[in-house]
Formats: sequence, C-alpha cells, structure tokens
Amino acid sequence: MRADLITKYDVRVPRYTSYPTAPHFGPEVESTCYRRWMSDLDPGEPLSLYLHVPFCHELCWFCGCHTTATRRDRPVAAYAARLAREIDICADSLARRARVTHVHWGGGTPTRLACADFSRIMERLRDRFAVAADGEIAVEIDPRQFTPAMARTLADAGVTRASLGVQDFDPNVQTAIGRVQSLEVTESAVEELRAVGITALNLDLMYGLPGQTVASLEHTVDSAIALAPNRLALFGYAHLPDLKRHQRLIDGSRLPDAAARIAQFEAASARILGHGYRPVGLDHFARPDDDLIVALDQGRLRRNFQGYTADRAEILLGIGASAISRLPQGYAQNAVHVRDWSTAIDAGQLPAARGIAIDDDDRLRGRIIERLMCELDVDVAEQCHALGMDPNTLADAFKALAPLAADGLVRLDGWRVTVPVAARPFLRLACAAFDRAGGPQNGPPIEAARASRAAPAL
Ligand SMILES: C[S@@+](CC[C@H](N)C(=O)[O-])C[C@H]1O[C@@H](n2cnc3c(N)ncnc32)[C@H](O)[C@@H]1O
Repeated sequence: MRADLITKYDVRVPRYTSYPTAPHFGPEVESTCYRRWMSDLDPGEPLSLYLHVPFCHELCWFCGCHTTATRRDRPVAAYAARLAREIDICADSLARRARVTHVHWGGGTPTRLACADFSRIMERLRDRFAVAADGEIAVEIDPRQFTPAMARTLADAGVTRASLGVQDFDPNVQTAIGRVQSLEVTESAVEELRAVGITALNLDLMYGLPGQTVASLEHTVDSAIALAPNRLALFGYAHLPDLKRHQRLIDGSRLPDAAARIAQFEAASARILGHGYRPVGLDHFARPDDDLIVALDQGRLRRNFQGYTADRAEILLGIGASAISRLPQGYAQNAVHVRDWSTAIDAGQLPAARGIAIDDDDRLRGRIIERLMCELDVDVAEQCHALGMDPNTLADAFKALAPLAADGLVRLDGWRVTVPVAARPFLRLACAAFDRAGGPQNGPPIEAARASRAAPAL
C-alpha cells in the first residue's frame, strides 16, 4: 500500500457493527419504549439472542470490551441468576414463545460462569424460547482457565461453535499486552473442545500490538493455522487509553504506526489466504466450507455486534449488561454498568437504557454500509429500489467517494461501489461516505472512541 495514502487516510472511522453507530444512541429508547417495540414484533419472526457476561478471571491490558476481572465467585453467581431472570422478562415481553435460530455468548468471558450456572441459563433459554435443533450456539472462550468440565458442560448444553482468544503467540508480545498464554494452553483447549464434539472453532488474533513485527505475526499465523480453525479473526488493536484506563499499562511508544499496522495486516492476510482460507469482510477469514463463506457466496452474510454472521434472523435480542438489541424499529442497549442493570432486573423491568429509533433513510444507509462491510461491493441503486427510495438522495455520498476513487481505494461504476481487496484496510472509509453523521475524524484508524465503548465486538 502506498505510503502517501496511508498518511492521507490515517483517520478514525467506526467499525460499523451497526448503523447508526452506538455513539448516536440516546436515552429516549428505554425500558418502556423497548417493551413496546418487543410486543409489536411479528410473533412468527425467528430471533437471534446475544448473552453478555461482563466478567473475566483476569484483565488483559489491551481489552476494549465491557468486562471486569474478578476472582470472587459470588458476584458472578449473582449475575448468572439475574441473567436467567432477564430471559424470563424478555420472553414475557413477546407476544408468544419465539423461535431462536442463533445464540451467541460473549463477554468478557462467558466461561467465567460456573458450569452449573451456564447449564441452568441454557435450560431457561430452551424453556422460554424454541431454540431450533439446527441452530448455532456459539461461545467466546479464554483458553487459559478453560477446563474439561466446562468443555463437557458446553457440549451438553448444545454449544456448536467456540471462539478462542489467542491474540499473539509470541511470548514478548504476550508480556507487552498482559496476556501470557502458551501455545500448549491454546492447543489443549482446542483438543478438549474437539473431544466433546465442538468442532466449529474460531481463533481471535490481533495486529498492531506492541513488539509485533511482520515476521512475528507471520509466525503467530502459522501456529494458529496449525490448529486448523474453521475461522480466523484478525483484529486491529484499538488503543484508547483515555477511555479504557487499563490500556495505559501498554507502552504506547512501542505501538506500530499506521504504515506498520497495514504491513502487518497485509502480510498476515496473505499468509492466511495462502493456506486456503477466504477473506470475509473487514477482518475475518474462513475455510471455504464454513457457513460464513456459504452465506457470503449467497449474498446473505450479515454484520452484527459480534462481527460477521451467517444467521438469517433480522431480530437480535441482547441479554445482559451493555448488550445491544437490533429490532426493525431501531437499536436498544441495556444499562452498561452491572449495578444499574441489576436494579432494573430486580424491579422486573427490561434493562434497556439507551438506543435509537431508525427511519427509512437510516435503513437504506445501514443496508448499503452492511453490504460494503460484508461483500466490499454494493449496488446502491438496487438497495434503494428494494426500499422504494431514490438513489439520487445519496448524491453526497458519491461526492465523498470521489477522492477515494481517484486514489484507487474504491471503484465506481454507475451506482455500483466496489472496494478492491487490496484496499480492504480502507473499507470503513467507503462506508463512512454513506454515514449521515459525517466523515471520519482525525486519529488512528480505529473505532471512534465512544463507539468502541458501546460495541461489544471489537
Ligand atoms: C469480546 S473479546 C472476548 C475474549 C475472551 N474473553 C478471551 O479472553 O479470549 C473477543 C476479542 O476481542 C478482541 N479485542 C479485545 N480488545 C480489543 C481491542 N482493544 N482492539 C481490538 N480487538 C480487541 C480480542 O481479539 C478478543 O479475543
């Protein structure tokens, strides 16, 4: 990638896990509004559920997620009990028992829950919702404290996919980010999962970390691929020490600059593709037989708060502190702090605290951005016509795309917008052209600060 373009476009852009993005959420969407939205849902529509566990055994210095480290089991058990209660409150707010096609457990670390609590919550879920027999149940895992007992618990609960946090296998990088995790620890978690029949495995890697080099990252990629994961995520490290104070433990002067970050992404990406994986959206890769690739090839890949999904449900209900729901009417986010969330649950209320109602213009821009984030390509006229809207209303977006096109970062062909695979690191800039909230701000090419705080998927 040309150095002058890297400097020119070294700007902050949202990761577009939703549109409008979370910084635009406000207090007007709260419990009563969210309850009304839920009771108005078409009872025949399938649902996707997201359950958030904001606890970890220990805090990683790089972490940008909603979580706290605790070694005490009591607050975690109290949280689990309220999570089950929220499932009841949610189910009671719907017109009838809904079909669920996809469940995602994220965090934090869902496997921080006690095995018995995890099983109880899954039982409650199956009690109150009709979880499809062929549905996906995915769980994020920290391999360091993963046990055979938890592997058995997950399998018995019907978990079908696991995402394991790795970040980097280089011991020097691991020390610099406060996440020491030997290759053997990751290998044994993978083996334990496969032994109980959970064979759909994702690994999370990161680039842009202190001490990382192209060569060290390539080595990490080779070690990751030797574990034969079905999917790999390659996240760009978002360093926001003003917002996430623990990130100050990371020596900012050792972070690679924008050019080095892109060189790392390109080298790691080439390595992964060389092993037969296919690129998915901004930062994911999957084996050709994986559901994500099937969905991508069929034009039905979706972007959500957890990244990318093959799930077909239009409605996503978030359960747990900070979890975000996506409904046809708009977005609703639960209270972020466990204390506020607990107060709402104890009062028998839906814990929604902020959000945004969406109109047709948001829906259109959201669809265009989602197609770009998924396929790097969108026919704007086709999207407009599908919603009965006039593409000319988006003339400003095309004006904003013109400089990117002149620099070869997008191709424009009539109403068609394509981001060449080589320009994948700049994909979000093309999306930002369709963002009514305006263009990117100066800063590192990462999620805008508040969006990062609000979005569980980094
Ligand atoms: C929601 S976290 C859960 C990780 C899991 N608890 C673990 O310990 O492995 C999922 C992934 O987000 C990524 N992530 C976390 N903080 C990040 C940051 N500041 N910038 C980019 N990616 C980040 C990491 O790759 C992490 O594995």
